[in-house]
Amino acid sequence: MTEETEELPSSKLGTKEYWDSAYNHELSNYKRNGDIGDVWFGEESIERVVTWMLESALVNVQSSVVDLGCGNGAFLLYLQVDLINDEDKEKIKTSEFDVTHDKGTYDAVSLCPEDPKSKRLSYIKAVHRITKENGLFIITSCNWVHHELIEHFSEYFSKEHIIPTPTFKFGGKVGTQVTCIVFRKVSK
Ligand SMILES: C[S@@+](CC[C@H](N)C(=O)[O-])C[C@H]1O[C@@H](n2cnc3c(N)ncnc32)[C@H](O)[C@@H]1O
Repeated sequence: MTEETEELPSSKLGTKEYWDSAYNHELSNYKRNGDIGDVWFGEESIERVVTWMLESALVNVQSSVVDLGCGNGAFLLYLQVDLINDEDKEKIKTSEFDVTHDKGTYDAVSLCPEDPKSKRLSYIKAVHRITKENGLFIITSCNWVHHELIEHFSEYFSKEHIIPTPTFKFGGKVGTQVTCIVFRKVSK
């Protein structure tokens, strides 16, 4: 992060209490009526990344993948990787992954009411630490646009590819609802 970033207005979505309560609620709904809960940014946001992974020569079935802030785990169910049992969750603490994936988690961290800048930086460093040398970090964000993410992560990751997302036009300007970028880890 070299340029001064204007932080986002803080929100309860940036607190652990909010997410603990949201997922307790989702879990009880799931147990009661099988509702799988929120799929943030829609199922197409998962399909977009999984399709890219399948088609890219950069990721294969041997690749280890971790979904950071996985929520209800919908992304992992698509991949059908076995990161949802306790043994594998333990591994996350000590492992490095070929692919680290984030959908909405950096967004949530950015909304932290207390010192979001240092929280974002800690997050970026943690992602760098658990991504293998030359590994990939794939992020989908609704709070930051391409150039902001590229700038935030620039010390630790370089842009490998932008996965296109749907655009809309408003007032003569073209925008996107979500941004999706594949980064490559930079050696430190
Ligand atoms: C918008 S939700 C996205 C959930 C999931 N990735 C998805 O796409 O459905 C944000 C997620 O970030 C997680 N989160 C927020 N701050 C976190 C932190 N400091 N460490 C780990 N996870 C965090 C929340 O628990 C929540 O699961």
